[in-house]
Amino acid sequence: MDRQLISAIAHRDHPIAAPVSEANLDRLLRRASLPEQARVLDLGCGEAEWSLRALELLPSAVADGVDISERALASAAESATARGLADRLSLHRMPAADFVAAQPYDLALCVGSTHAFEGLKGTMAAAARFVRPGGLVLVGEGFWEREPAPEVVAEIGAYPDLAGTVAAAESGGWLTVYAHVSTREEWDEYEWSWTGTLARWAATHPGPDGDQALAVMLEHREMWLNGYRDLLGFATLLLQRV
Ligand SMILES: C[S@@+](CC[C@H](N)C(=O)[O-])C[C@H]1O[C@@H](n2cnc3c(N)ncnc32)[C@H](O)[C@@H]1O
Repeated sequence: MDRQLISAIAHRDHPIAAPVSEANLDRLLRRASLPEQARVLDLGCGEAEWSLRALELLPSAVADGVDISERALASAAESATARGLADRLSLHRMPAADFVAAQPYDLALCVGSTHAFEGLKGTMAAAARFVRPGGLVLVGEGFWEREPAPEVVAEIGAYPDLAGTVAAAESGGWLTVYAHVSTREEWDEYEWSWTGTLARWAATHPGPDGDQALAVMLEHREMWLNGYRDLLGFATLLLQRV
């Protein structure tokens, strides 16, 4: 089984692929106070739940979602059709760095996908090309609450702390106008959903695929429970272009 399929199974019981609850996802989108006929760009959209929710909240908005995963985009298209949003969501299968916009956007989203632009600074530089003056970015990124062990950094990544994350996001002409820091409850909900859903799938698929899924789940859970739990933070920053 490829990692995309394992990840898709692990994420089945959580609305998005990041530790943010549905209520906080809605709250962040409402906080953007987008205008009528808003244009939304979702970079590394995955199954496009952020865009789909934005379209539900704003009946005159349109959105473009960009991702490299065929599987995730197929699922996004299916959800868009089921929720009556297909005519307002365009999906583009390509690296986000290759996307070329026809017109500027009111809001660019990049939640849990900054690796598509080699990190937060690269993401903000790219967003400046896509968003109109005065427009917004909603970017979700990990940060270290406290210094983790070197082996945890090696596995998860060398993030700054929260202050360093805000500074990096603002470095290229952006100002943070709101933010949400994921709670421990949101982290636990996300990780127990991820590991639990994969464990359940493994138990009902005996054989090589089930064994592989179980091994991935155990490795992930070990890294979480004995590694980054209570150390890794996740901030979703709403920034305005100044
Ligand atoms: C952690 S998921 C986040 C998905 C979504 N933003 C969400 O919050 O549910 C990261 C996504 O980035 C996508 N991705 C990875 N590299 C990419 C790239 N170079 N260009 C576009 N998407 C990319 C993956 O396929 C995956 O769907």
